[in-house]
Amino acid sequence: MTFVLKLDAQHPQPELIEQAASVIRQGGLVAFPTETVYGLGADAMNELAVQRIFEAKGRPADNPLIVHVCDRAMLDLVASEVGAKAEALIAAYWPGPLTLVLKRSQRIAASVSAGLSTVAVRMPRNQIASELIRRAATPIAAPSANRSGRPSPTTAAHVTSDLDGRIDMILDGGETIIGIESTVLDMTSEPPAILRPGWVTREQLTEAIGPVQLTKAAEALKRSPGVRHKHYSPRAQVVLVEHDSAASIHQLCSELLKEGPVGFIGHSRLEIDDPAFNLVILENSAEDYARSIYAALRKLDEQGARVIVIEGINDEGEGAAVMDRLRRSAADDQ
Ligand code: TXA
Ligand code: MG
Repeated sequence: MTFVLKLDAQHPQPELIEQAASVIRQGGLVAFPTETVYGLGADAMNELAVQRIFEAKGRPADNPLIVHVCDRAMLDLVASEVGAKAEALIAAYWPGPLTLVLKRSQRIAASVSAGLSTVAVRMPRNQIASELIRRAATPIAAPSANRSGRPSPTTAAHVTSDLDGRIDMILDGGETIIGIESTVLDMTSEPPAILRPGWVTREQLTEAIGPVQLTKAAEALKRSPGVRHKHYSPRAQVVLVEHDSAASIHQLCSELLKEGPVGFIGHSRLEIDDPAFNLVILENSAEDYARSIYAALRKLDEQGARVIVIEGINDEGEGAAVMDRLRRSAADDQ
């Protein structure tokens, strides 16, 4: 049985967060909002609790988890070494959507790191998340709160639809504000390497600490096992159109409609009068795409689309993170 507690996002009720913190302290699983997506949390120092995350999500055991901390002091429980560049990034971007891969401390549960000598850590900016960690008084390991391979959840309802009955509690803090996962930066290589692009951009990282490398697919695969697995995918087949005119996207959707129901996510206002055609129109901006894309994929899935056509956006700045997720959801296999 999964309890859902509804919180006021601006003024979260302390007594409700305390209930969730007590579930974490007892080794249970609590889904909670962060500024990026909902996370599925457990006490990062408790091996059995962490193993329950993998079971609930159906997550492969070789895919390590991100540990969430609420202050700089807690980081020292999790990581054994924090260098000058990491400190500079922490000063500039924590709390916020930036995850740093550092040498791990022996004190955290072994399965958090899935056999690696490193640990991924971030300090979320969402008040409910940071208050939960503070009251639990322990770092919280939390992957995105979806069944493995499904789009990340941006509302409590998405978490319910994937994990109801499999976890102890969901803190409903409304829709997440960014909507895609944090940037993951490996600080154990020189120069540091972006393993997953996110809302903190390559340009911003470079400005703070000098050159960073973009990890190539094959390299990333070795260093961040998560990218190997199928990710961000709805049930429908996804076709990503990176650059094309509204007229040719219209043409493509019409052709596909002959084979079955079609969904469309994009900024071109297509007009196709067919009950088997459903669409989600977004602004042509990284902000709106990030905030809306996972919910749109889930919605079109529920409406029975066989194929979902997505219109891409400009691959610069924050758009690079959005396009990374769109390409992954369109890839047949990861
Ligand atoms: O925004 C986010 O990062 C969200 C919220 C809940 O914080 N979390 C999230 O977690 O997206 P997850 O598990 O869905 O993605 C974690 C990514 C995976 O690609 C994983 O492989 C990588 O981080 N990762 C975790 N630990 C790592 C490590 N020690 N070395 C390299 N990559 C690591
Ligand atoms: Mg995930």
